[in-house]
Amino acid sequence: MISGAPASGKGTQCGLIIKKYGLVHIAAGDLLRAEVAAGSENGKRAKEYMEKGQLVPNEIVVMMVKERLLKSDSQEKGWLLDGYPRSLSQAMALEELGIRPELFILLEVSEEKLVERVVGRRLDPVTGKIYHLSYSPPETEEIAARLTHRFDDTEEKVKLRLQTHHQNVKDVLSIYEDITIKVDGNASKEDVFAQIDSAVSGLVEQKGLQHPCVKYDA
Ligand code: AP5
Repeated sequence: MISGAPASGKGTQCGLIIKKYGLVHIAAGDLLRAEVAAGSENGKRAKEYMEKGQLVPNEIVVMMVKERLLKSDSQEKGWLLDGYPRSLSQAMALEELGIRPELFILLEVSEEKLVERVVGRRLDPVTGKIYHLSYSPPETEEIAARLTHRFDDTEEKVKLRLQTHHQNVKDVLSIYEDITIKVDGNASKEDVFAQIDSAVSGLVEQKGLQHPCVKYDA
């Protein structure tokens, strides 16, 4: 599992982790945005909360994540859960099913940096790749022209999202304390990945894991 404040770099690190370890990336925010884009009833309800930077109610999120975790690809390759759980009750919903990660990664980033990262973030709707206008600019003019900006990526909304994060993070950490590593997320994305990679590869070695760490694209 990977956790951290809004724009702390969860999605960016997940991209690097799955490339090396071949896990299935399950991002609660992406699942919700797909519902919003599809215009479903759940999507319409979810958007009201996302716009206010609040947690979407459990009856929408929990089932969505559980179903994705139980799909065959997640079971076979192992999973990397991003942005879930965000509350004690969400963590308990997984504990009740006996679903527990091998590692809980917490990215720690200063508030000043978080705001800067949110405001400059852009997404490529074709490849799903995450860019930043200053830190990870698009490679070509063609990509630059199609980049989109998330509806909740404003300075005002990130502050609300941050408040929600602070209200809940301690509760979630209390469930995973024994398997948590805290990572300094202020560094470059390569340096942040090096810290995570060292913890994951150490774990693979220590536990002799077959999966979730089957390398297919190192
Ligand atoms: P979600 O989509 O999960 O948003 P978030 O937690 O606010 O996190 P972000 O996706 O904004 O950031 P990130 O940490 O992935 O950073 P990224 O790698 O993109 O959730 C959105 C909303 O959905 C929530 O507010 C809530 O309403 C709802 N929701 C989601 N999960 C829920 C749940 N479990 N329960 C209820 N509701 C839920 O990086 C950000 C930017 O920084 C990018 O531009 C990137 O290029 C840049 N960057 C990344 N790393 C670095 C680095 N090391 N150096 C410089 N720049 C960097």
